[in-house]
Amino acid sequence: MNINGKHFTSIWMEEKGDVKIIDQRKLPFDWVIETLSTVEDFYQAIRQMKVRGAPLIGTTAAFGMMVATREALLTDDFAKSLKEAANYLKTSRPTAVDLFYAIDRMEAYILAQAVDNHILAKATTAALTYQKENIQNCKSIGENGLEIIQNIADEKGGEVVHILTHCNAGWLATDDYGTATAPIYLAHDRGIRVHVWVDETRPRNQGARLTAWELRQHGVPHTVIADNTGGHLMQHHLVDMVLVGSDRTTRSGDVANKIGTYLKALAAKDNGVPFYVALPSSTIDWTLDDGLAEIPIEERSPDEVTFIDGLHDQALTRVRLTPEGSLAANYAFDVTPARLVTGLITEKGVCKASKEGISRLFGDEMGEM
Ligand code: MRU
Repeated sequence: MNINGKHFTSIWMEEKGDVKIIDQRKLPFDWVIETLSTVEDFYQAIRQMKVRGAPLIGTTAAFGMMVATREALLTDDFAKSLKEAANYLKTSRPTAVDLFYAIDRMEAYILAQAVDNHILAKATTAALTYQKENIQNCKSIGENGLEIIQNIADEKGGEVVHILTHCNAGWLATDDYGTATAPIYLAHDRGIRVHVWVDETRPRNQGARLTAWELRQHGVPHTVIADNTGGHLMQHHLVDMVLVGSDRTTRSGDVANKIGTYLKALAAKDNGVPFYVALPSSTIDWTLDDGLAEIPIEERSPDEVTFIDGLHDQALTRVRLTPEGSLAANYAFDVTPARLVTGLITEKGVCKASKEGISRLFGDEMGEM
């Protein structure tokens, strides 16, 4: 992704081995780059949502395991220290399965190596490979989703295709390109006329703050809407498709994504609007069948509901929204059952949100995790 003409990924390693992130809590008002040096830094970056979005959480954890290797080499018991770091990083957030996938993959690889002078270099290469795959997966999701947008554009005789998205499943939520945004960027770049309805995504406003900023950087026409607007727009034929990301998808196609996604899927079903979910296979939990019963849903601080952050007099400011003393609840994700999902757009192609659909694309991987 280009920011003011310079290419960025959402996390990157510099020559000396320093890992850098963009503190997404400050966007779009401040551009703050932070260095992550210790396992604790990585844990806090994920927990405090300086980095967020399922695929990016995965890559951050992969680099965290690289740093865990460096820290473990300074201890008497390499394996014990590495396992402790892995278990600790896994407690940073509960819902996005990429976190667990990345940590398990890095841990298994590192523990299979001889503990010698080369192990840190090997862990570094493994983290960089993880990131490269993540980027390639999002690029492929873009190519695979493009045809869907192209078909709608053709059906509309070249008129603008209106796409509604929820939360931020953009390049900021991944390493580059995004998941839900990847086909949108590609369509825009290929000259297809697209316009994006951006759900503000209360309570943390990832849509209003991050997706809107990203789309602006790329020059994609968009309009920010309050979360409750989608149903009305769909009733009035102002949405051609819904396109969202996922934090965890079961092997039967149930999708956990940012809270409110389910309501968009219901409205889409009622209005005959196609509802697509874009996700890399690192977001599929091969061990789960029933998303509603089995996917852990993060509950966050009620303060995110009772207060809101914004820019006031050039400073990031927090203001109270609710009466003192009113209780607030903050469920961060919900589950959209597979029956409401038109299709999954993955790096391997588009499939039905069902066990059969997913296994047609990913036969060998099913049941491996
Ligand atoms: O709480 P967040 O900001 O980490 O939630 C992110 C989302 O819900 C995204 O929509 C999801 O991770 C898909 S990202 C490519």
